[in-house]
Amino acid sequence: MTRISATLIPGDGIGPEITEAVTTILEAVDAPFVWDRQHGGLDGVAHGGDPMPQATIDSIGRTRLALKGPLTTPVGGGFRSVNVRMREAFGLYANVRPVRTMVKGGRYEDIDIVLVRENLEGLYVAFEHFIAVGDDPRAVAISQGVNTRVECERIVKFAFDYAVRNGRKKVTLVHKANVLKALTGLFLEAGRKIAKEYEGRIACDDRIVDACAMQLVLKPEQFDVIVTTNLFGDILSDQLAGLVGGLGMAPGANIGPDAAIFEAVHGSAPDIAGKGVANPLALLLAACLMLEHVDEAAKARRIREAVALVLETDRVRTPDLGGTATTTDFARAVTRRLGT
Ligand code: NAI
Ligand code: MG
Repeated sequence: MTRISATLIPGDGIGPEITEAVTTILEAVDAPFVWDRQHGGLDGVAHGGDPMPQATIDSIGRTRLALKGPLTTPVGGGFRSVNVRMREAFGLYANVRPVRTMVKGGRYEDIDIVLVRENLEGLYVAFEHFIAVGDDPRAVAISQGVNTRVECERIVKFAFDYAVRNGRKKVTLVHKANVLKALTGLFLEAGRKIAKEYEGRIACDDRIVDACAMQLVLKPEQFDVIVTTNLFGDILSDQLAGLVGGLGMAPGANIGPDAAIFEAVHGSAPDIAGKGVANPLALLLAACLMLEHVDEAAKARRIREAVALVLETDRVRTPDLGGTATTTDFARAVTRRLGT
């Protein structure tokens, strides 16, 4: 088997715990990755004063492939999100976030939705400033979003191509073009144009984001692939995770023409960090997307099948899924199933 070198960033908070669990499971399926371990986030600050160290950037530049734990971003002030900067640095324009029911008995039995989020533009460009009034230097806050036709067309095309490749039936364009007529009107216009190219192969409809949020709770089965702008995609993907048991279940892939970074949707979970109870499944499912990305779909399938047995038959579940298993218990249960 050809070995593939890949960057591994354990990251902050629960990052090192879940990374350990995931790399152990990857070894059990003989995954091809040879890890180049790097720092990032607060861990990068602790090891040399930089949340996005040059060595980490150089490593991803070399490998073009990374598995990344969550990185803590200070709220309000402090440094800009390293996650956002990495997406920009490597032009990772598509964020793919699939959610699927793995634990039965929740509100819904068969959720299977893929959210494709535009990853570089919208309100995330953070063109922000304050205006002083009187003696208040921050009396007024202003933020400008940027969407370009080129990028809107590229992300919608990505969603349709994904639908074709993965046997999906429908793409839903999600926007707020009734109010943000320029910023998200452009996205809708570009989306409808691209949709025409797939007519007869992939169906297309559109929803206003707030109505979409409600419909996702009332009737999630009407959705298949959703494509939307950056901020809406961030919010809806956490909501989607909630439909299948929470953030512990939701993986994400950041894809560009030259590199791909795989990560969990969740953050560094400071409230449970160091306690050994974090659910490693989201990062594990991200590693499965990474295996598929390097044409090792059979290994990804083996892991998902082992996970299904562990969750449903062995009933080994971490506390976020109502169980009592630790991160290590869960990883051991999965490796045990992989060995049999
Ligand atoms: P969070 O996702 O870290 O946590 C939200 C809630 O979900 C917490 O109660 C947490 O305990 C729980 N949770 C998250 N992942 C879990 C897991 N694997 N197993 C069990 N429970 C889990 O979101 P929060 O608290 O808003 O953000 C914490 C930090 O993470 C912030 O600094 C934020 O900027 C950063 N963040 C980083 C991301 C990334 O690196 N891609 C994504 C989202 C947030
Ligand atoms: Mg988020």
